[in-house]
Amino acid sequence: MSAVIYTRAQTLRPQTGVFGVAILRTCNYSTDNKAYNLSALKRGTGGRSSFNGIVATIFGATGFTGRYVVNRLGKIGTQMIIPYRGDTLNILRLRVSGDLGQVYFHPYNLKDENSIRNAVKYSNVVINLVGRDWETKNYKFSDVHIDGARHLARISRECGVDRFIHVSSLNSSEHPEGHVLPKGSGFLKSKYFGEKAVLEEFPEATIFRPSDLYGQEDRFLRYYISEWRRVTQFMPLWKKGESTIKQPCYVADFAAGIVAAIKDPDTKGKIYQAIGPKRYYLSELIDWFFRVTQRRGNFVRYPMEYDPTFNLKVYLINLVSPNEPIASLHWERIERECVTDKVKKDLPTLEDLGITLTQMEDQIPYELRPWTYAMYHGVDADEPVPTPAPPKVVL
Ligand SMILES: NC(=O)c1ccc[n+]([C@@H]2O[C@H](COP(=O)([O-])OP(=O)(O)OC[C@H]3O[C@@H](n4cnc5c(N)ncnc54)[C@H](OP(=O)(O)O)[C@@H]3O)[C@@H](O)[C@H]2O)c1
Repeated sequence: MSAVIYTRAQTLRPQTGVFGVAILRTCNYSTDNKAYNLSALKRGTGGRSSFNGIVATIFGATGFTGRYVVNRLGKIGTQMIIPYRGDTLNILRLRVSGDLGQVYFHPYNLKDENSIRNAVKYSNVVINLVGRDWETKNYKFSDVHIDGARHLARISRECGVDRFIHVSSLNSSEHPEGHVLPKGSGFLKSKYFGEKAVLEEFPEATIFRPSDLYGQEDRFLRYYISEWRRVTQFMPLWKKGESTIKQPCYVADFAAGIVAAIKDPDTKGKIYQAIGPKRYYLSELIDWFFRVTQRRGNFVRYPMEYDPTFNLKVYLINLVSPNEPIASLHWERIERECVTDKVKKDLPTLEDLGITLTQMEDQIPYELRPWTYAMYHGVDADEPVPTPAPPKVVL
């Protein structure tokens, strides 16, 4: 190495003078091992063009929440390594989330330990956002949520990573209660064992348990508003949606919580619940969504358990397209929609990380704009548009 430094110093001497030698000797190279303290390399005032001392590998960054997390990290001068699978076209838009030279991509496979090791070995923070709402031919819930999470946690610990942030799910349980599936949700069960696996491998990991997350490109609002979930004006819901309570969280608040946890070393080894500020009956939420979109005609909710045609529809969709269910309509999703959000009083939430939670009433009209009747044409500009009544809150 010293020979290389000497040769380079000779080459640069005419431009940089004698100081060039000293500068080169203090440089660290990314190919060196991670023996230095990354936070000692902080530069700048803390914005996008700074370096904040965090080198983060974000698994699952190509998903819905990944975009928000990556953008928040990029804004504060984080260097990011984004492992990906599949087509590189899917990851291109993430390149602009950080400054030039701050966002790196690395192909990987969740079952290939070497590719994971290469992705985490220069990082001091690893975030696991990998998850799947349904099982596929190649990956069962246990492969993704338990074995995959365990690999990521173990390899991160072996590589000397300082912070491991794992995203699980609210209501994760060893024995989830069954509603439409007799054994309950396989997703929630695998998330429970995933948390255990992560803590076995990386006891100082910080775990987030998000409730339903909403925002642009989500799978909450878009699921309920989709033509596939409804039957024209008729919405089948388990027990009419009147037995299920939800506490949805805005995705940007969730991403802000992850960033806040990374910055605060006291969050090591803690479990945070990412929930919204208020609880609502699912029936109230669905009625409100349809009020906001100002759909014409009478909207009718009815108990799905008395409608065999809806069961047949779900069955046929899953038969035709088992690996990528159309509009996310599958029994596992319907099972999760019946589960009431259980919030544990003894666990901290996003508010404990200093996040001011977004009120659904302020955000939903914006999120539902693309579905709102006559939003861009056909309405007289002077005609007052009635503000839809908000949903009733569960106290
Ligand atoms: N969104 C919610 O409302 C919600 C609620 C509770 C919990 N969560 C959990 O929060 C985390 C992030 O959620 P999200 O909404 O961002 O999920 P998402 O949009 O489905 O994204 C999941 C990410 O995981 C990756 N992934 C899935 N299976 C993989 C596999 N076998 N190998 C490698 N990568 C794989 C996906 O990569 P590709 O792009 O290549 O497919 C994608 O980047 C997940 O763990 C999810 O279970 C989300």
